[in-house]
Amino acid sequence: MKFKSQRVAYWFFATCMLLLTLQIVYGIIMGFARIGMDGLHPVIPFNVARAVHTNLLVMWLLAGFMGAAYYIVPDECDRELEWPKLAYVQLIALVVTGVTAIIGFHFNWWEGRKFLEIPRPLDFLVVVDVLLFITNIGITIWKSKRITTTVSVLFFGLLMAALLYLPGMIPFDNQTVDSFFRWWVVHLWVEGVWELIMGGILAFLLIQITGVDREVVEKWLYVIVGFTFLSGILGTGHHYYYIGTPRYWLWIGGLFGALEPLAFLGMAIYGIAMYRRGGRNHPNQMALLWTLTTCILSFVGAGFLGAAHTLPQVNMYTHGTLVTGMHGHLAFWGAYACLVLAIITYAMPQVTGRKRNEDASASYAFWASNIGMLAMTVAFGIAGVAQVYLERRAGMEFLDVQRELEVHFIGLLLAAMVFGSGIAAFIYNFIRYGLPVAEPTGPADPTRRSSDEADGVVVPEPAAGG
Ligand code: HEM
Ligand code: HEM
Ligand SMILES: [Fe+2]
Repeated sequence: MKFKSQRVAYWFFATCMLLLTLQIVYGIIMGFARIGMDGLHPVIPFNVARAVHTNLLVMWLLAGFMGAAYYIVPDECDRELEWPKLAYVQLIALVVTGVTAIIGFHFNWWEGRKFLEIPRPLDFLVVVDVLLFITNIGITIWKSKRITTTVSVLFFGLLMAALLYLPGMIPFDNQTVDSFFRWWVVHLWVEGVWELIMGGILAFLLIQITGVDREVVEKWLYVIVGFTFLSGILGTGHHYYYIGTPRYWLWIGGLFGALEPLAFLGMAIYGIAMYRRGGRNHPNQMALLWTLTTCILSFVGAGFLGAAHTLPQVNMYTHGTLVTGMHGHLAFWGAYACLVLAIITYAMPQVTGRKRNEDASASYAFWASNIGMLAMTVAFGIAGVAQVYLERRAGMEFLDVQRELEVHFIGLLLAAMVFGSGIAAFIYNFIRYGLPVAEPTGPADPTRRSSDEADGVVVPEPAAGG
């Protein structure tokens, strides 16, 4: 940790741990409800559990991105954060708003629009909070003498994510128009500007961990940004097939949706190429593992499993089924959850001054959570395909099909146990790190060349054999 203000990131990451735990609790409630054990129904009906589960997901990921930015921006810009105290205020306000929304859902205070359930008055608080965040990092970057491509892409992604929240706040009476703009938020976030945030954080991690020259890493970053815009914007059309929009969206959505995996494929090749080029002797191998997993699983979950149902001919059958759940879980996990866990794993030894990254609990956390999530994806996938055949090919009644699917949710719950144990280990490890140190601990790794700190120093070639 080079600057004192970077320690604010710790509190954002601690918030992530808390919200992630709650998210999983609500996931398990739904899992049990799906096998008929729905005793909590009077207090937490399925629709409430689902809204809480998905909104907590978005909230902890946003907290993770903010923590990442508060860690990365001072490092990249070579100066303290402009207003560290404001960052704490902004975190508290975010948590208060989020918790109010979650409690509200339990009392039917919500908008009922998947992922954007937060009631309108609270939306305004979210906007103010995010504006404070953007201003804080924006001014920090503005006043710095060094503005890198990595930090620019990260900032642009965060700024656009804030702006793209607004179309979801416009009130419409027409269901089709409302759905049309809801996708501007949901799709253009995860398949657009969040990818820029991802590109920025990944570039930072790869530069720091692999030691590959900044110029090389950032050149890849441009390619990924290019692919993202080329396919992601019009790719929104893959959600417009059956909501009442004109027919030409079938073509546009089909074509550009099919191109979207390229950006994620680029991300996977990028991570692996940087790993092969760079040294593998960074002391935080666990962070490297999470970083590479982000690159690879985002391609599998978002690119591959997204492509599986992006064509209108397929989507006609799979739309809104558990096939979507299958893709939703591995895409969010691979791309954004792993990314946040990667930056946490990288930053924790720096902000706390303690090394717990090679502990057995850290390693168990990695393997159990990833194997558990892959198994959950398979369970959702099999349930989804069965649902499509029974309901949409054989013509069985919706609720009769749901009963047939119960057995797959037993499998899901078993996988969720493995996944949950991995997350428990991650959080145990997080707690064992202890609180952040008061003073900077120095550059990330003084024994290695960080591509711009030590210009002129010759980097040793990686050992033969890759
Ligand atoms: C990290 C990136 C991604 C994430 C986090 C993600 C997540 C999700 C989620 C949560 C949904 C359900 C949304 C809702 O119904 O409100 C969804 C739907 C969908 N996604 Fe993705 N996705 C990603 C990337 C992709 C990509 C690259 C493709 C295409 C190649 C794709 C294709 C689709 C399609 C076609 C649907 C609609 C499913 C339906 O009709 O029910 N996704 N995605
Ligand atoms: C113990 C772990 C978990 C369990 C048991 C679980 C279970 C569930 C269930 C039962 C649903 C509702 C599916 C339906 O419509 O019937 C759901 C939805 C969802 N979950 Fe999870 N979940 C877990 C963890 C996670 C994690 C870690 C993530 C993100 C990384 C996640 C992301 C989502 C998303 C995006 C949806 C909405 C999918 C859609 O739009 O169709 N879940 N989950
Ligand atoms: Fe999409």
